[in-house]
Amino acid sequence: MNPWPYPTHIAHRGGGSLAPENTLAAMRVGFSHGYRMVEFDAKLCGDGSIILMHDATLERTTDGTGRVAARPWGEIARLDAGAWHSSAFVGEPVPRLASVARYLIANGMLCNIEIKPCPGRERETAAAIALEAQELWAGAAVPPLLSSFSERALEIAGRVAPELPRGLLLDEPAEGWLLRAARLGCKSIHLNQRHATPERITTGHQAGFRLLAYTVNDPARAAELLGAGMDGIFTDALDRIAVAR
Ligand code: G3P
Ligand code: MG
Repeated sequence: MNPWPYPTHIAHRGGGSLAPENTLAAMRVGFSHGYRMVEFDAKLCGDGSIILMHDATLERTTDGTGRVAARPWGEIARLDAGAWHSSAFVGEPVPRLASVARYLIANGMLCNIEIKPCPGRERETAAAIALEAQELWAGAAVPPLLSSFSERALEIAGRVAPELPRGLLLDEPAEGWLLRAARLGCKSIHLNQRHATPERITTGHQAGFRLLAYTVNDPARAAELLGAGMDGIFTDALDRIAVAR
């Protein structure tokens, strides 16, 4: 199998459920709980700046409204992305990829950048993120792992930055899942933990892929999957799933 420099425990959206997702505060919470790798969602806002955000609209995680793709960075930078979570995080801003990269590199943390394009923006989102990730992590000992549910995005990212490792995100693997990942040149496959079975881990490994599972919040399930050979788990339960030291 391909060499794999990433740890088994990955903090989902930065700090899991303990902090507002996809913020710098979340990365700090991940770090303080011993996590040395974070997953986060990245997309383009209206002027092409790369920001961290899961949804295509602003309502759920900020005090803004409307489509992310319709708002320039200047407007998004003024939003509150922490108040929805708890009073401790009021005033927390939406970060750009560049500031998150600086924090992670300075603190020796690794990351998985999930390319999460707004509808219809797969091409420009993947190209911009791959290019910027390559520049931001130039010279880093371990590159960021790129992933996406969008095969189009993975294909474009691979063309723009072929040296950055990529992972195919799947919910339930359909017929031909290993072939699709192989055609895309992916190094890993990230499965919904509900559909992660010992058989799929074995066949994935035999085909040369690393297997990761999202989102694993039950400590017993985490132990079961890691025991079955899963190479990594994404979790929201940073306070209940301890990082092996
Ligand atoms: O990358 C793993 C996981 O984050 C995928 O689902 O919706 O939480 O981005 P979602
Ligand atoms: Mg994600």
